[in-house]
Amino acid sequence: MPRILLYTGKGGVGKTSVAAASAVLAAERGYRTIVLSTDIAHSLADALDVPLGPEPRRILPNLDAQEPDVYFNVQRYWRTIQSYVATLFSWHGLDEVMAEEMTILPGMDELGSLLWIADHLESDQYDVIVVDAAPTGETLRLLSLPEASRWWVERVAPISRRVTKLGGPLLQKVIGVPVPDVAVFEAAERQLGRLQRVHALLADPDMSTVRVVLNLEKMSIAEAERSFTYFHLYGYPSDLVVCNRVIPAEVGGYFAPLREAQQAYLPNVIQDFAPVPLRSVPWFDREMVGIDLLRELGKSLFGDEDPTQIFYRGRPYSIRRENGSYALSLELPFATKDEIGLSRHADELVIQVGAWRRTLVLPRALVDAPTTGARMEDRTLKVQFAARPPTGGTG
Ligand SMILES: Nc1ncnc2c1ncn2[C@@H]1O[C@H](COP(=O)(O)OP(=O)(O)OP(=O)(O)O)[C@@H](O)[C@H]1O
Ligand SMILES: [Mg+2]
Repeated sequence: MPRILLYTGKGGVGKTSVAAASAVLAAERGYRTIVLSTDIAHSLADALDVPLGPEPRRILPNLDAQEPDVYFNVQRYWRTIQSYVATLFSWHGLDEVMAEEMTILPGMDELGSLLWIADHLESDQYDVIVVDAAPTGETLRLLSLPEASRWWVERVAPISRRVTKLGGPLLQKVIGVPVPDVAVFEAAERQLGRLQRVHALLADPDMSTVRVVLNLEKMSIAEAERSFTYFHLYGYPSDLVVCNRVIPAEVGGYFAPLREAQQAYLPNVIQDFAPVPLRSVPWFDREMVGIDLLRELGKSLFGDEDPTQIFYRGRPYSIRRENGSYALSLELPFATKDEIGLSRHADELVIQVGAWRRTLVLPRALVDAPTTGARMEDRTLKVQFAARPPTGGTG
């Protein structure tokens, strides 16, 4: 089975550079590799300094690269559905060009990138698939879309199909719009089914890992920690945190205070992601563009190690629902009999055990739920939350 490496992080932190660098190293180790970006604002071609298109293109022995394209994706994967939607819109009086334009339903284009991953998995042509993902927010949304579509496949599709089979023309009269024929449902179902397989494989810790790229700056760290929580919550394994653009010690002068500020963040950052390892990449004195410089960037991150290895296995924490309330389990790097201190600030939970301190960004569901206690079981800390108080209002 191929290995999937997905790199994400805040805008501008170096996702594309690190993803492309990993792909170059993987290819040079002999893995049949593809790197593709799921960010609509592609910059993979700029990073690699080679022209790329919506389909895979060979750029080195063993290395293909690709920048999937919105229109191309819709044509390739959603044509049947698109033509139904176009019928629907032109039936509503929109002119044809406009109808065509409108048929790109939200999510279709992005899901197209996931369907490309499905293609690459099914094709058996690659050992390694490197994904240069969009900034964290969009990536989280993308990764939760197939999950959200499950109800459609399981519930709506079978019913709709029956309805169209039995009473298409009649239904059309009643609801007053063209009813899609069976082919439309079948096409949707087929693609959504494939999305669900990709989703399952992305959550398979033997195959896929999400790697968070960050810079030692407040906003980038905060976003990395928040997304880390959500990746765990959704069950996407994560094996590495890449700390990019670290100012080297020998850079003095004007940049010395900036280096100091960066270094001050480091111990907390290491602790907040532990036991998932963190590796640093220096801030190079050049823009790291082109295959040779990307290789250099990759070497500074992985040395002579295999960039596709799984650097950490396990789920550092999980959240489970127990009798209407929630329990958070956190794997600690040590067992302890020390007293456990918990404090809350907005959406953060601060856990203090002796000198060890960790800030966890809580998922939405837990933000309003008071913590009712914590205990250690072996090396696992269990934090209990009360059921969320009923919210006021009618919404
Ligand atoms: N360690 C580094 N040293 C020097 N320059 C770097 C380093 N990492 C990345 N860069 C440069 O920083 C710029 C932004 O990097 P990159 O495009 O990889 O970030 P990104 O996270 O993919 O951005 P976006 O969110 O816009 O996709 C590029 O010009 C890249 O060459
Ligand atoms: Mg990028």
